[in-house]
Amino acid sequence: MYLYRSPWPYLATILFVFHFTTSSFPHHHDYCVIGAGPSGLQIGYFLHQKHRDYVIFERNNVSGSFYVQYPRHRKLISINKRHTGKTNKEFNLRHDWNSLLSHDESLLFKHYSKEMFPHADVLLKYLHDYTTKLGLNVQYNTEVRDIHRSPANHSTDQNLYHMHDVNGNHYTCSKLIVATGIAEPNVPDNVPGIDYAVGYEDVSIDPDDFEGQSVLVLGRGNAAFETADAIYGATNLIHMVGRSRVRLAWATHYVGDLRAVNNGLLDTYQLKSLDGVLEAGLEEIKIVKKNNKLHLLFKEDDADPADSLDNFALRDPYDKIIRCLGFKFDKSIFKNDTKLQMGKGRTKKYPKIGYNYESVDNPDMFFAGTNTHSLDFRKSAGGFIHGFRYTARSLHHLLEWRYHQVPWPSHTAPITQLMNTIIKRLNEASGTYQMFGVLGDVIILKNNGLEFEMLEEYPINLIHKLYETSGHQGNRIIAIVMEYGRDFSGPGNDIFRIDRATGEPSEAHTSNFLHPVLYYYEQLPTEKEMNTKPSGVALPRPKLLHHIVEDFLTSWDGPLSHLLPLRRL
Ligand SMILES: Cc1cc2nc3c(=O)[nH]c(=O)nc-3n(C[C@H](O)[C@H](O)[C@H](O)COP(=O)(O)OP(=O)(O)OC[C@H]3O[C@@H](n4cnc5c(N)ncnc54)[C@H](O)[C@@H]3O)c2cc1C
Ligand SMILES: *[C@@H]1O[C@H](CO)[C@@H](O)[C@H](O)[C@H]1NC(C)=O
Ligand SMILES: *[C@@H]1O[C@H](CO)[C@@H](O)[C@H](O)[C@H]1NC(C)=O
Ligand SMILES: *[C@@H]1O[C@H](CO)[C@@H](O)[C@H](O)[C@H]1NC(C)=O
Repeated sequence: MYLYRSPWPYLATILFVFHFTTSSFPHHHDYCVIGAGPSGLQIGYFLHQKHRDYVIFERNNVSGSFYVQYPRHRKLISINKRHTGKTNKEFNLRHDWNSLLSHDESLLFKHYSKEMFPHADVLLKYLHDYTTKLGLNVQYNTEVRDIHRSPANHSTDQNLYHMHDVNGNHYTCSKLIVATGIAEPNVPDNVPGIDYAVGYEDVSIDPDDFEGQSVLVLGRGNAAFETADAIYGATNLIHMVGRSRVRLAWATHYVGDLRAVNNGLLDTYQLKSLDGVLEAGLEEIKIVKKNNKLHLLFKEDDADPADSLDNFALRDPYDKIIRCLGFKFDKSIFKNDTKLQMGKGRTKKYPKIGYNYESVDNPDMFFAGTNTHSLDFRKSAGGFIHGFRYTARSLHHLLEWRYHQVPWPSHTAPITQLMNTIIKRLNEASGTYQMFGVLGDVIILKNNGLEFEMLEEYPINLIHKLYETSGHQGNRIIAIVMEYGRDFSGPGNDIFRIDRATGEPSEAHTSNFLHPVLYYYEQLPTEKEMNTKPSGVALPRPKLLHHIVEDFLTSWDGPLSHLLPLRRL
């Protein structure tokens, strides 16, 4: 009988073997980076420089694919300041917000555009060149999913991360760096009728499509204002609704708040030219369609707008409603049994991570780029290229010590060189300038104060774990952190008031604008002191605290006002 056995089982076996060979033998790398956006490329560069075994998976066919679509109206909001009057390369990076870090001078953004706010296509070209010139190992057209961790390898205590691409290839890696950005449009599920609104992600960028129309924009970030700016010359009017008051970047000193380059609609509102801005919580509203027009109503109101107050600000209907409510992190790439806590409150769109950029739930899983911005949300620049290029470097230094026993880069010098070293850093360091309040220079005083060792751009929130995280032992330290005055920045504050700045060295602690602050400790702060420091304070109370008075030119080299007080300290 068995001579007549159907061939199918054999075929099935062959198919099974075929399937097995393509999908089940994992391709292994020490490091997997997910995402070839600016942050994935930046961390990739450092791994490449150190000859680590790494791969960058990118689902699209180009580097920086976020910028194929965004910003929709194509104008970057990161500045391309090509001239500073100085030739110091490190200093110039303080005012170049688009370049990634590398040793290749041709990869500076000033060679790519003369525009102060360049076109997004230029950034794409730049990121392409960055990838190819530096020979980064990017595997394009590889969308990875089903990320999960296998139980720790008991013989080595190491984790192994597994993932698949859409073609069924199986990859494993010992360390995972998630650089996938924050790019899923946020569509609220508590606004009835939200489907009548068109999203920022696919709204037309042609003003002609809004000719003579009344438009409502939900949201009040840069995307909302950028959209309004592009069409307000074509519309009857634009109304804008958001939960909280407008936050102007020049008042908050936070680059993610509304930038002057986008804020034209504030003029047409305050000059009573029909456009307008008002506040309402999304949870209170609904959108209703009637006679082909869209109405914004409070939920408790009846669908008939005539039932509202007869002077209700939003009583006239709209032709279009545009949703610009931000973006969120895509969790769907993780297998559903991979626990991944998100932040709470205003950081809820970010994965929850420690100050070493590691997932709180998943050892050996790290984050890089804009998705690490929970650590400095609405404070520093960690959500933007000019900030996360440095935090990616910090992450790399942490990884080098933790996995390869390479201590944080440092240099040691006799104490007689301390002043000069500090002055040089104050006046040129870019990482601590961009990532103010977050990354600081740490000076370890050694050998009874005869020598010092300098660690640059260290994440100051890890300072109580200095040895564990950097490989450098020390207790007597000076941390140098750039800070704005604490009560100065804020959405409603008068940041142009006449007494906003001081030039008086003895009043240095009242400095409002960005200025260096030195913290001297004889003992490293404890974990408890770190956890209980008041919010908005960079570091716990030191033995000595020294502010260097703010400077209009950001040149902290005045012999009397800057250097003398420092020398006394
Ligand atoms: C409208 C808008 C405008 C902005 N403009 C600026 C600006 O002008 N300047 C600035 O500095 N910042 C800007 N930002 C902030 C911006 O998000 C970041 O600077 C930057 O794009 C984030 O870089 P990233 O590398 O962290 O993430 P992204 O640039 O988003 O890169 C993530 C990459 O991961 C890939 N990816 C995601 N999931 C997977 C997967 N499962 N498998 C494989 N690949 C995957 C994506 O395709 C993408 O290429 C803007 C943000 C928004 C929302
Ligand atoms: C990437 O894919 C897009 C869309 O499929 C295509 O138009 C483009 O030419 C591709 N670019 C490259 C560099 O392969
Ligand atoms: C566990 O570690 C041992 C020793 O290094 C190694 O031989 C083995 O392949 C590892 N297993 C996995 C699943 O990584
Ligand atoms: C995960 O997804 C699978 C397949 O969709 C489903 O069967 C399973 O119940 C899910 N598990 C959890 C913990 O949600």
